[in-house]
Amino acid sequence: MANDRRPDDMKRIATKEQAEAFIAEQVKELQAQIGDKKVLLALSGGVDSSVVAALLIKAVGQQLTCVHVNHGLLRKGEPEQVIEVFKNQMKANLIYVDATDRFLDKLAGVSDPETKRKIIGGEFIEVFAEEARKLDGIEFLAQGTIWPDILESEKGIKAHHNAGGLPEDMKFELVEPVKILFKDEVRVVGEALGLPANMVYRQPFPGPGLGVRCPGAITRDRLNAVREADAILREEFAKNGLEGKVWQYFTVVPDFKSTGIKDGKRTFDWPVIIRAVNTTDAMTATVQEIPFSLMQTLVSRITSEVPGVNRVLYDFTPKPSATIEYE
Ligand code: XMP
Repeated sequence: MANDRRPDDMKRIATKEQAEAFIAEQVKELQAQIGDKKVLLALSGGVDSSVVAALLIKAVGQQLTCVHVNHGLLRKGEPEQVIEVFKNQMKANLIYVDATDRFLDKLAGVSDPETKRKIIGGEFIEVFAEEARKLDGIEFLAQGTIWPDILESEKGIKAHHNAGGLPEDMKFELVEPVKILFKDEVRVVGEALGLPANMVYRQPFPGPGLGVRCPGAITRDRLNAVREADAILREEFAKNGLEGKVWQYFTVVPDFKSTGIKDGKRTFDWPVIIRAVNTTDAMTATVQEIPFSLMQTLVSRITSEVPGVNRVLYDFTPKPSATIEYE
């Protein structure tokens, strides 16, 4: 590809016009690279893979096959939005795999955080490879690699291959249409491609998803509590003008219960921990101040709407000493 590296004099893409110029150029390059061949993409619904999908749909349409693996650890409404935006609106060739049972069965009883992460990552590649094997004539693999990934991999901080680790016998040529862009530029390009704002400006979400917010061995009922409480938190932050202003916010449901009372009866249920932090590089983070009235609304909604929960706590700890996630 012509643009393997970000040219030193490249202007930061900040306007719709600049984004449209980038899109037009990329579409031409993608068509030249791919020709009439087929491309495969693991579409998580995150910003980078979504923008890559939209670019490829524009460039090669039905020659692209997107695979969306639902590992059962996504936030409420996420798989539905991927299907709505890409399959229904953009008419993409989308394979949706609901692998929830497979992941949760493998994770059952596993409490070590690193083992959980390894199981989720390994299973993801296996499910994706299985889907890829069912398809004929795929020559290209698209990836949402961005410029900081390349810089970090050059510095030895991390390997940049998002969908790396595919089995040895699966060899594809890589297609990485946003690899010279910074994250803020990917978002501007995504908007220009018509992706919804909540997809393009969404907060960071770890690959192992809600799995790291359900500390210890994951159970379906506790996972459901994390997901429902997270949906309430996102809804209330949006209503109160905090969406897009706070860098990252989510809920955690730890694996212990405490005594409470509901309708005059004793309960023995989980607490929900709310975390809301601001940062620029995720290396350090400060805690977001939340208005007391909003906190009261959150406590009232979460304790009455989420099954199995009788307390709500707020995590006031910056990074360091805590990390942002719990595992
Ligand atoms: P920590 O918990 O290390 O998180 O303070 C820093 C940022 O990284 C995100 N994070 C991940 N992102 N895959 C990702 O893509 C992961 O496995 C992962 N783990 C943590 C975290 O959400 C926070 O924004």
